[in-house]
Amino acid sequence: MRKKIIAGNWKMFKDLAEANDFFKELIENLHESKTEIMVAPSFTNLWHSFQTTRDYPIEIIAQNMHEENYGAFTGEISAEMLKSVGIQRVILGHSERRLFFGETDEQLKKKVNCAIHNEMHFIFCIGEELKDRNANHHFTVIKNQLKNSLFEISEKDWKYIVVAYEPVWAIGTGETASPEQAQEMHQFIRKTIANVYGNEIAENVSILYGGSVKPENAKQLFQQSDIDGALVGGASLKVSSFIKIIQAI
Ligand code: PGA
Repeated sequence: MRKKIIAGNWKMFKDLAEANDFFKELIENLHESKTEIMVAPSFTNLWHSFQTTRDYPIEIIAQNMHEENYGAFTGEISAEMLKSVGIQRVILGHSERRLFFGETDEQLKKKVNCAIHNEMHFIFCIGEELKDRNANHHFTVIKNQLKNSLFEISEKDWKYIVVAYEPVWAIGTGETASPEQAQEMHQFIRKTIANVYGNEIAENVSILYGGSVKPENAKQLFQQSDIDGALVGGASLKVSSFIKIIQAI
């Protein structure tokens, strides 16, 4: 059985006090559920957020990490550093990292290998741009992103991976892929993984949808058979909307 996951990606929002307030309110309002709840605050909030939530079913995860274990890389953070403050999972390949910070499939392959080497779990983001979809290239783009960064890992290492399909045109735009569009792509992703690694691995990997998920559209998305949860940006910044999305699954 694959896991249901709701992960909040805070991006560059919330300082220490705001993060604290959020987790206090989230803990007060959390009901028992089988869904795994993850939140990715900024680097500066990781340790404190981890301490605040450690007795509750909330996993604090990182938004990024460097592909080397250590070295002269000013401003960067390693897997080992993340692990030393309790972090066991990181988001890799978010489209904002690809777009604004020039992360390539090749570099992401190194990050994937580094994560696995460090036994660090990761949410691997893929997604096409609007021009790709308009040119009917979206399936090729997604297949290449999977192939170029993930498909050299060994079968046993799929246990570290959650995939997030985030069409770039739906991120932070208020525009969501329709449940049918999302399901079509999730099914394609699962099939592409199955073709290389077999059905068992493909059936067990959780594939999250991301891109303007909100309480109003979450339920319909989660009703699709290949959508196992969501990576949520804007709507994860408020406890009320984040909880509603958790309840929708
Ligand atoms: P959004 O962001 O929910 O604000 O569209 C999603 C993401 O970037 O992961």
